Amino acid sequence: MNITNIAVLVSGRGSNLQSIIDNIENSTIPHASVQVVISDVDGTYALERAKEHDIEAVFVNQNKYDTKAGFETEILRILEAHDIGLVLLAGYMRVVGPTLLEPYKGRMINIHPALLPSFPGLHGQQQAFDHGVKVSGCTVHFVDDGVDTGPIIIQRCVTVLEDDTAEVLADRILEQEHKIFPEAVRLFVQGKLIIDGRKVRIAE
Ligand code: GRF
Repeated sequence: MNITNIAVLVSGRGSNLQSIIDNIENSTIPHASVQVVISDVDGTYALERAKEHDIEAVFVNQNKYDTKAGFETEILRILEAHDIGLVLLAGYMRVVGPTLLEPYKGRMINIHPALLPSFPGLHGQQQAFDHGVKVSGCTVHFVDDGVDTGPIIIQRCVTVLEDDTAEVLADRILEQEHKIFPEAVRLFVQGKLIIDGRKVRIAE
């Protein structure tokens, strides 16, 4: 496995994918490359973004497989064919099962739009807004077998303003996602993240 070979799993618009590509292209993330982008949804804008940067873009259709394990075995085959050492979940809307997780434990990173462990799962920004929090934010973490429960790498706070809507708040959180996700990827590919139980130590 080559830790500078990155795969990105997506389901939607791919703005976080774009932030990774941009930070590789401007060398903020040095010596790394996105080798393949895999979507579980056909025709996503994220796949278009990949093609625009001459990155292989693959749609894997879960409906073609009888089981989640079958679907994930196909994704695993693609990852192994590209000698992928780091898998990023960038708006990938499925819970990763053991077939995919086990080979990539400690090598799979997710971005979540809330300050974990609060508001895991879908629509983290909306959940936080509806709860009436004064501060929300985003979290980059290693993936484990729970939903948004893995060891935390970086978090960034975003203050909730009096006149915010959930959408406006989500936009400001997204701006911070586009900063901390590439930062975590840089640290990973430079070998500076050490998982120590629940804690991630940053050797910088
Ligand atoms: C982001 O808010 C991310 O935190 C969440 O899904 C959204 C994906 O957005 N996991 P994009 O596809 O990267 O634009």
